[in-house]
Amino acid sequence: MKGIHFIDEHGTFTMEQAENESYLYFPIAGENGMKSSVTPNFGGDSKLDQNTFLLEPVSSENLHNNRSGRNFWCEIKGEGVWSAVGQSAEAEAGKFTENQDESVLTAGFMWQTVERTSKKYQLKATVTAFVPRSVNAEVMQVTIQNIGENSKEITSVAAIPIYGRSADNLRDHRHVTSLLHRIRTTENGIYVKPTLSFDERGHQKNHLTYYVCGLTGEGEKPQSFYPDVDIFLGEGGTFTHPRAVLEHRDGEPAGKTFEGTEAVGGIRFAPVTLAKGESKTFTIFLGVTDDEKEIAALSERLVTKEAVEKEFAVIKEDWRKQVNVAYHTGNREFDQLLKWVSFQPILRRIYGCSFLPHHDYGKGGRGWRDLWQDCLALLIMNPSNVRKMILDNFGGVRMDGTNATIIGEKPGEFVADRNNITRVWMDHGMWPFLTTMLYLDQTGDLDLLNQEVFYFKDRQVERGTAHDLDWNEEEGNWQRDENGMLYKGTVLEHLLLQHLCSFYEVGEHNYIRLRGADWNDAIDLANERGESVAFTCAYAGNLKNLAGVIRKLEEGDKGRKITLLEEMQELILSKKEIWDDIEKKKALLADFTTKCRHTVSGRKVEMDALLVADCLEEKAEWMMEHIRKNEWIEDQDGDGWFNSYYDNHGNAVEGIFDSGVRMMLTGQVFAVMSQTADVKQTRAICNSADRYLYKREVGGYRLNTNFQEEKYDMGRMFGFAYGEKENGAVFSHMTVMYANALYQNGFVEEGYKALQTLADTALDFETSHIYPGIPEYFNAKGRGLYHYLTGAASWYMLTMVTQVFGVRGEYGDLVLEPKLTKEQFDADGKAQIHLEFAGAKLQVTYENPKHLGYGAYKAAKAALDDKTEIAAKDGKLVIKRAMIEKLGSGEHQIQVSLLG
Ligand code: G1P
Repeated sequence: MKGIHFIDEHGTFTMEQAENESYLYFPIAGENGMKSSVTPNFGGDSKLDQNTFLLEPVSSENLHNNRSGRNFWCEIKGEGVWSAVGQSAEAEAGKFTENQDESVLTAGFMWQTVERTSKKYQLKATVTAFVPRSVNAEVMQVTIQNIGENSKEITSVAAIPIYGRSADNLRDHRHVTSLLHRIRTTENGIYVKPTLSFDERGHQKNHLTYYVCGLTGEGEKPQSFYPDVDIFLGEGGTFTHPRAVLEHRDGEPAGKTFEGTEAVGGIRFAPVTLAKGESKTFTIFLGVTDDEKEIAALSERLVTKEAVEKEFAVIKEDWRKQVNVAYHTGNREFDQLLKWVSFQPILRRIYGCSFLPHHDYGKGGRGWRDLWQDCLALLIMNPSNVRKMILDNFGGVRMDGTNATIIGEKPGEFVADRNNITRVWMDHGMWPFLTTMLYLDQTGDLDLLNQEVFYFKDRQVERGTAHDLDWNEEEGNWQRDENGMLYKGTVLEHLLLQHLCSFYEVGEHNYIRLRGADWNDAIDLANERGESVAFTCAYAGNLKNLAGVIRKLEEGDKGRKITLLEEMQELILSKKEIWDDIEKKKALLADFTTKCRHTVSGRKVEMDALLVADCLEEKAEWMMEHIRKNEWIEDQDGDGWFNSYYDNHGNAVEGIFDSGVRMMLTGQVFAVMSQTADVKQTRAICNSADRYLYKREVGGYRLNTNFQEEKYDMGRMFGFAYGEKENGAVFSHMTVMYANALYQNGFVEEGYKALQTLADTALDFETSHIYPGIPEYFNAKGRGLYHYLTGAASWYMLTMVTQVFGVRGEYGDLVLEPKLTKEQFDADGKAQIHLEFAGAKLQVTYENPKHLGYGAYKAAKAALDDKTEIAAKDGKLVIKRAMIEKLGSGEHQIQVSLLG
């Protein structure tokens, strides 16, 4: 059968003839900075960052003809030459015919093995790629076996072109930068150390060595080398038809230098004779270092075949351990898919949005949303550092509630805008609260809110509409008060500023202005008059929940006060007369942002916590009511949905138009999540989404209907072909958030449908054409694109754990409240999840012997380690954190009976 087959419980899968599929690439990275993509033929690229590409950068379209990847040739005496990775002119010609090699790809977290068998040459190659621990290098282990009757004499040649420079030079000064190359052959391989790191704004002396080395499985050194592309290819040769190999030419000896040419890691080994069944193993390693001693040390580490296998076993275990969540439902394939989904946030953290073949945007780094979203998954899998991360990240918030958008390499490092790009994404202020709320629930650490953190300061002021010319870089990137002292405010103060400043920044319909864009980066042409009703809902929901958090704080400390910056008072205390009046609202905000333009007073006031909570709730309620009253669209079937946006002409974007129904998912997600939509409206939204947006074959709920219009008054999304990316694709992140919102509100079957259609499509290889995982989106044909690096994965995992399995924290206590549907239990009526909570390893098993559906069963009681019994209240079990913290090491069992 075509497609993916899982072979263990760690997500490991196999696939036959993977090279017959387009756009397949696999991520292989280390924890130190090495980031590679590997195709089934070992094409792809490898880099540390934008300026440090070991192999030539590839975008998705280069994958069709990426012939300059990691090759390994066998010259078989008297018979011909064979590429052990299937990258040769002969392999290309034999593709899709009976002459094609048979191949089986096997892959797990951060490693790939391909077994390739040639009928013609009676050889089998097993090639494995991985990044060993703590070095910036890739290892490629190649075993060549004679599967024929007669013995063969084989000379092996590894050939990996070394690009060795910045991605910018792919077209800009490609040739000139090759003149900088200084190439050496050493006993092990080929080193390339360019003289300069090319940058016309000021060239830098280069300190990095790019290398490709090799040795045999017994530690023997190579015989000779082809360091230079011209030598290797020969006049008129190509990387799939290199003359050095075809003509069995000897290479150059060790100890020679070359300069000013394109480099290749061409390594020729001594011939070996393999009798029937015999094999020979080779180790190729390639990397980047600023200390060449590291290369020698690595060659010691990899000196034998067995040593390489040991390194491989270590990294396999390392990565597996990072995903410490395992799922057992009635569908094994799905459980294994979830392993990959849980691994994806780790990939996103490593690769950002720039370093896999579809992700060729930006030059590295992560966006503000990604920063907070990655924390969501970490809170489930590896919460120990999250507190610090959250505190660091809040340091990116400005006094006016906007935030730095250029994020530095180190935690808590934000870079000032130097280019006068004053783009404000209006949704940015609401994500930190979602992550913080999850943190508070998972840990019970309410004290986080009292922690004091700096504010970010740069030239941008008044929510990106003006420049503070009094500020210069010498003052540093932290906000100061009028005495020149650095100003700090609590995390709670940061959250309040993010939400309140947004609350007042409204457009002509009294919804929060769209500005540069919201979550949908491609709604970017309505800066003047655009408004996002969708995210007005989201902010309203947050204000309500933030009030809940403040009440909780007060519960533990009756009558408590909240300490806030003096200037903020009016933002909190204003009343309805102001909210109804757009001009007054804007004036109040302007008053605040001008006061905080350059410095803040630094003076603090104490406000009654309950009063603050009341004020937030009133605002939230007012916002929701305003939306309910004005934005509901009803269709002829009596169903309906909310309008999500106003365009740059000030018109509502959704509704029933002559060109057809215009409906967008985003507004519905946040209306449901925030409970702006009541139960009846949520039901109507589900019906409308099913009618207008749902297409099972391509992954389920699409982002919008086809507007049949370019809409230059809204955003670039309408310039995209319909069904692609932000214009009506099934965009996983929003679809998963839709599911999450539905689950939160008890619409379980509906939420299940949204989640499951995504998963089923991803697993249906004939449609999605992707390795296991959730892609950023499914296109109009159902193909998964921008695989691996998507915020959708964090949300998918979060929804599975906290909603579907219902294993979640509530201010630190453990709550079990399953929302599993009938089909999610196995044949014995069991569903199970392994995860860590409050430092304890837990296995939670739900037992549903009568195979009841959601709504028909209720959690009755739980047994902890077969001893302690806990009774449920209204189908919900609460286990006190203190009890969990007392559990020792090893896995603990929680058995939950679900009864009718
Ligand atoms: C990407 C971006 C994300 C943005 C989304 C919609 O989604 O990374 O910040 O909100 O497009 O424009 P993702 O890669 O998270 O699926």
